[in-house]
Amino acid sequence: MSALQRVVVPLGERSYDVVVGHGAIAELAGLLPGTARKAAVVTQATVPCSIDLPLPTARIEIGVGESHKTLTTIELVARSFARIGLTRHDVVIAVGGGMVTDIAGFAAATWHRGMPVINVATTLLGMVDGAIGGKTAVNLPEGKNLVGSFWQPSGVICDLDALATLPSRERRSGDGEMAKYHFLTGEDLEALDLTARVARCVSIKAALVAADEREGDQRALLNYGHTLAHALEIVTDHGLTHGEAVGIGLVFAAELARQLDRIDDERVKAHRVVVGDTYGLPTSVPTDLGADDLMALMARDKKALDGLTFVLDGPRGIEIVRDVSTSDVRAALARM
Ligand code: GLY
Repeated sequence: MSALQRVVVPLGERSYDVVVGHGAIAELAGLLPGTARKAAVVTQATVPCSIDLPLPTARIEIGVGESHKTLTTIELVARSFARIGLTRHDVVIAVGGGMVTDIAGFAAATWHRGMPVINVATTLLGMVDGAIGGKTAVNLPEGKNLVGSFWQPSGVICDLDALATLPSRERRSGDGEMAKYHFLTGEDLEALDLTARVARCVSIKAALVAADEREGDQRALLNYGHTLAHALEIVTDHGLTHGEAVGIGLVFAAELARQLDRIDDERVKAHRVVVGDTYGLPTSVPTDLGADDLMALMARDKKALDGLTFVLDGPRGIEIVRDVSTSDVRAALARM
């Protein structure tokens, strides 16, 4: 079994460690802020959670599913904080996937105007994405993730033992993000064991977060493959997992880059091989989905500030490309 790896997210005084590996949970006590006298563990009934902390700990369960990712849940969590008597010197521990870290992080960001939160990621997707980088948000009826804040955790635990019981659908969600990291660096991540691969994905994300914490530009590269992926998730009502949708979205991004003469056929093939063969994810749009619906949803994507905007591969590597014509997008979709 490989040793634990520690990756630093370098943000000056707010820098923090991400501990990755089997048994990483043993390092949790060492991440606690010295000021904490109490802890609130925010989690879900479905998350296997046995957190043993050297200070009085209260457990707060939130509902399962996107319908609970709301301001109402934030209020319920905040009222639990009040009953516990949590102060801004204490600590919140988020134990779960992206939904839990979003809710606990947002509640911590606003409780007494901000208190420490430590993320214990229990899904592969959370380990390589949601638990790192401080994005927190809830949904409104008008749209997803519309209310939130950037609030960095004080530490993150990625204990790979948690993945042993992860349902395969959730595992595939993480696989899509891992496939994305292959292209962001051009490295053969598959050659690494899982501890080293998760740690490498974390360090790639850490560098982008450090360079552009509030997503002015560079951090948006993490959305490689996500423009079509978000549209596919909506149009299938999440019938496709996030990872499956990202897999298809990565291949589509390659086809679009080829359409714009930014990359050659070999590079498109490399995308198909990593997504389809290495990660076993789908590489084509399900035949029953209409191009018009996908086009409309992609135009609504939050990166579309002016015309259609995509993150695309090219001679200078992966970058943001604005004002892509709808005819090029349609031509690339037709090859999917
Ligand atoms: N999930 C993309 C980001 O954290 O920026």
